[in-house]
Amino acid sequence: MKLVDLDFEPLILADAIEKRVKDIGIQLNKDYSDTKPVFVGVLNGSFLFIADLIKQIDIPCEITFTKLASYYGGTKSTLKIRDDIDFSVDIKGRDVLIIEDIVDTGNTAHYLIDKLKAKEPASIKLCSLLLKPASLQTKIDELKYVGFEIENHFVVGYGLDYKEMGRNLRDIYKKV
Ligand code: IMP
Repeated sequence: MKLVDLDFEPLILADAIEKRVKDIGIQLNKDYSDTKPVFVGVLNGSFLFIADLIKQIDIPCEITFTKLASYYGGTKSTLKIRDDIDFSVDIKGRDVLIIEDIVDTGNTAHYLIDKLKAKEPASIKLCSLLLKPASLQTKIDELKYVGFEIENHFVVGYGLDYKEMGRNLRDIYKKV
């Protein structure tokens, strides 16, 4: 499969994603049963994951979004972070769960966690569909839910893009 100028091959199929997202949902329903959590979805890459995961949640919750990006149309993570945080929900004293598509170096996650901590939530945890353990630069204590650990591949599909292409793919693909 070709996207723009790169070749990709399947890595995680839609069925496996669906099953794993259901399992995470079951776990979240248990862990947050009494707390009316605030889910903070990080756009754009996690839009499908957020939607599928949220449909599994049957406890009272609120959902808000923020937009961060440390990639600028390439395949290597950079430190530059574009930041459009604009919360309609006051998270002070609330249990917050950040929903991310992928943790690569971890810079984005650390940045966002620090920003949200300043708003004094009761707790803050991170849920990421994908994690590249070998790429992670510093441990993230808040990372409590991970869909799949993957090697240091560049991946697309299920919301993730290469130069804005591939977000619509149902499976996750890795660069060949
Ligand atoms: P980090 O700050 O290096 O952890 O990168 C996190 C962000 O980079 C993610 O939220 C994605 O938007 C993007 N990213 C990291 N790895 C990939 C990838 O393999 N494919 C597409 N986007 C990625």
